[in-house]
Amino acid sequence: MRIDEGGRGLMGRVGFGVAVGCAVVSCAIAVILVGRRARRRRQWGRAVAVLREFEEGCSTSIGRLRQVVDAMAVEMHAGLASDGGSKLKMLLTFVDSLPDGQEMGIYYSLDLGATNFRVLQVELGGRNSMILRHKVESHPIPQYLMTGKIEDLFDFIAITLQNIIDKNGVAEHNPDLRRELGFTFSFPVRQISSSSGILIRWTKGISIENAIGKDVTQCLEEAMSRRGLNMRVAVLVNDTVGSLALGHYHDEDTVAAVVIGTGTNACYVELTEAIIKSQGLLTNSGGMVVNMEWGSFWSSHLPRTPYDIALDDESPNRNEQGFEKMISGMYLGEIVRRVLYRMAQESDIFGDAAHFMSAPFSLRTPLMASMHEDDSPDLKEVAKILRENLGMQDVPLRARRMVVRVCDIVARRAARLVAAGIVGILKKIGRDGSDGVATGRTKGEFRRSVIVVEGGLYASYELFREYLKEAVAEILGEEVARNVVLRTFEDGSGIGAALLAASHSSNR
Ligand code: BGC
Repeated sequence: MRIDEGGRGLMGRVGFGVAVGCAVVSCAIAVILVGRRARRRRQWGRAVAVLREFEEGCSTSIGRLRQVVDAMAVEMHAGLASDGGSKLKMLLTFVDSLPDGQEMGIYYSLDLGATNFRVLQVELGGRNSMILRHKVESHPIPQYLMTGKIEDLFDFIAITLQNIIDKNGVAEHNPDLRRELGFTFSFPVRQISSSSGILIRWTKGISIENAIGKDVTQCLEEAMSRRGLNMRVAVLVNDTVGSLALGHYHDEDTVAAVVIGTGTNACYVELTEAIIKSQGLLTNSGGMVVNMEWGSFWSSHLPRTPYDIALDDESPNRNEQGFEKMISGMYLGEIVRRVLYRMAQESDIFGDAAHFMSAPFSLRTPLMASMHEDDSPDLKEVAKILRENLGMQDVPLRARRMVVRVCDIVARRAARLVAAGIVGILKKIGRDGSDGVATGRTKGEFRRSVIVVEGGLYASYELFREYLKEAVAEILGEEVARNVVLRTFEDGSGIGAALLAASHSSNR
């Protein structure tokens, strides 16, 4: 009896102990879980705070865009008034007439942009803007040539050019004929004439020191003659100018061209009398294409964040190309990476994968665009890109959503700033609908203004294009915006240079 009672008592105590133990363990687990959840919420909250702060810093309200429009127009005036009067260089191109569709014959162009160069052979029909044929060959520039000597880069290009001409030149019957080349050189150049100019500086990561201050046409012609190539640079143009030429060839209402690729820039047709810094400049047409070099545009109204400042500080061309660093393909992915990396440092939303985001320029803009445009419900593409390109495994869905948000903020800001830049140009030439007849109204109608927009970023990033168009309409209002047409051409900068080579040809 006693034993039983004792046993029951013992068991009761043991049972009680176990129950208490279980309760303690459950409580502890609950406390841990609640604690973890609270920590996770705190962590998430920190990532959200980084996002909010960034989003606010990138604000492109309509009021701010209008300030950027005004600043662009004011800086254009200042850059036309004197050299060094503005960060906008407003470079003369000496292109005073644009192709009109009568050009005829076979012309070549060489398009040297950033990471590659293209050679084009264009056959022009001579009537009603007929491009009978065009062939394009694209070649990457080896990395070592981007930081070496200009002679080496141009020798490499001349050899490639010669091979291409040997392969394709059968269409030309006269081997003694000196071929005419349109040279698209997409860097800031102070032109001496329409076919020659001095390199001011490099952009887009190229740095060949011994080229600065040299006439790039002369450098190329010397390289071509070293290879025995019977070729002359008939015209030296910026890529924006090539694009404008092709646009005008197809549509005479074309007034400006914008490139949004690795770098960014714009050019437009200006009245010579407005180019105050070159008094006495006379052209047959009364106008001249001006290469704005808008990548270096700067205004205190630009929405600049600490990420932009850090990117600029660590770049090889600090305090230069401020607008370009907020807009173009070379930089957008890097801005996204910097924001995500900060989130990863402030919180654990990316788990222990944060260090994968520490390498500068490891997130390239085409990848950013693919993540941004991932419309699968579980953001499969984002997961794949983070895994395959940054080595980040198993990033949770809500962190992937955060990645897409950051891409959206960066792309939207860039596209809206381009829109403000375009409207700034329209304002400068009196086509933005803001003041009476000069606004573009003739006989009660608004004049059509065609702007060519080109470049890899623009061509391959649909959301960017949508944001840009939407912002142009938002700034101008629907009625004026209806008459502003954005057109794109493939290979416009190269074909346009061949067209200009034709219109500037000595064989014409
Ligand atoms: C260059 C411009 C060029 C633009 C687009 C910029 O970095 O300074 O000359 O037109 O890139 O290629």
